[in-house]
Amino acid sequence: MGDKKNHSNSMAKDQRDTVTPSSALICAMGSTHTLLMKTLHTHWNAKGSRFLAVHEFTDKQYVSLLKELDSLAERLRAIDAVAPTEMSVLTSASILREDHLDIYDASKLSRHLADAHSGVSDVYEAFIKKLGDEHPVSADLFTQLAGHHEKVAWMYKALID
Ligand SMILES: [Fe+2]
Repeated sequence: MGDKKNHSNSMAKDQRDTVTPSSALICAMGSTHTLLMKTLHTHWNAKGSRFLAVHEFTDKQYVSLLKELDSLAERLRAIDAVAPTEMSVLTSASILREDHLDIYDASKLSRHLADAHSGVSDVYEAFIKKLGDEHPVSADLFTQLAGHHEKVAWMYKALID
């Protein structure tokens, strides 16, 4: 079971009920930040037969997540909203819980990250529907990101033993 089912952040769920471009982008920044930390945990602490593949894959992933955070923040600035940097704001906006990840096996971590990326992709699809025609530029960004996270989830699934 992954983040979407077991570890979703209920505060963030309440925020998703009334979606605006800025609330969706802040939720996405928080979720991306949590994914970044989970990815770094995996890059640094993974063990087992899949170590090398997972270590090298997560090396590319954390760079990609940082660029994604930048795109989300700059989209917030483009709509005249402030891009958050406070940990408390990012954590409470995230759809993923940031509790201590007590998993070290590279294959199990790949499963955890596959579920986390799938959960983020699903939430972005919900944002696309809610933002719809009224906010096409933000909806388009979430369309690109939903597809990207779906693809990354598949790649992590391929790393599971
Ligand atoms: Fe490294």
